[in-house]
Amino acid sequence: MKNKKQALIIISFLSILFILSGCVKNDTLVETSDKEIIRVGHNQSQNHPTHLGMLAFEEYIESQLDNKYDVQLYPSELLGTQTNMVQLAQTGAIEIVVASNSILETFDEQYEIFNLPYLFESKEAYHAVMNDPEIVDPIFKSTKKSGFETVAWLDAGIRNFYTVDRPIETPDDLSGLKIRVQQSPTNVMMMKLFKGSATPMGFGDVYTAIQSGVIDGAENNELALTENGHGDVVNYYSYTQHQMIPDEVIVNNKFLENLSAKEREIFNKGFKILEDTQHNTWADSVKKAKERAEKEMGVAFNYPDTKPFRERVEPLHEKFLEDNPSLQPIYDNIIKKSEELETGGAQ
Ligand code: GCU
Repeated sequence: MKNKKQALIIISFLSILFILSGCVKNDTLVETSDKEIIRVGHNQSQNHPTHLGMLAFEEYIESQLDNKYDVQLYPSELLGTQTNMVQLAQTGAIEIVVASNSILETFDEQYEIFNLPYLFESKEAYHAVMNDPEIVDPIFKSTKKSGFETVAWLDAGIRNFYTVDRPIETPDDLSGLKIRVQQSPTNVMMMKLFKGSATPMGFGDVYTAIQSGVIDGAENNELALTENGHGDVVNYYSYTQHQMIPDEVIVNNKFLENLSAKEREIFNKGFKILEDTQHNTWADSVKKAKERAEKEMGVAFNYPDTKPFRERVEPLHEKFLEDNPSLQPIYDNIIKKSEELETGGAQ
């Protein structure tokens, strides 16, 4: 059944690629035919920091390894939803995919740690943890058994609730609301603790689901309001600040294994350029998105006390540690780092 589903996904993917390649001008096809194509799939718009980072990656790789590779970027779910794209990265049908950490927890439970609500005390703690190879490397490599590994992490800001009918001021305001969440067990459990009705679906379906009243709202960073137009169909954005979930850049194992040592070095530099460009453009993009959503889309922003929200979902931390006792040291390390940064200690 699973194999049948995977085969169907691959067939649809190949048809999409066929159609897309038909759109490319003939001269471009001739020019690139002798190059090895590297397909990069993501679900963001072309103004998003992730796409800007990918453009810098493309430019670097093509300038350093010219004539060998043609990096082709497929934004906006052109190659399918994130879940589909991860399956395609497993088989090698796509070489590189940007996937939310949320959906990777079904491949290895270690990823679950970054999906826990209120894990990080601050943006600084979030960045310090994600930039610490001692913490992230074992997690990033844990999916090698599934055909891919994470080579870079991208900022996806802070997740907050946004709704059509009323602002979220207290956890009780979520009670009974149908809220879209990412397709991850942790997110579904989180919504249950908030007493809302979790509606998992792909990112690309959220706009229509809100517009048609299938859901009452969703949760995401501010860019979803502008880059995905969600600000046109919701009225309130409430800073519950419940999660900082990174996006992971995943690469197919065989693609990485086939690189020579020299090429691998260049790719590693390319991944770093991607990370730096994406991280450096993030804060400004969020600021502009917020201004636009407020002024042009009429979204009202509110700032509830986050303490009661945090208290509601604390049981998820306990459950995570009970289910994964071997991950207690990583968890403790993250908490320690957060506290050190808060008190201005080491780091
Ligand atoms: C963010 C994140 C994406 C993710 C999306 C979602 O935009 O960067 O990777 O797919 O949230 O909520 O699905």
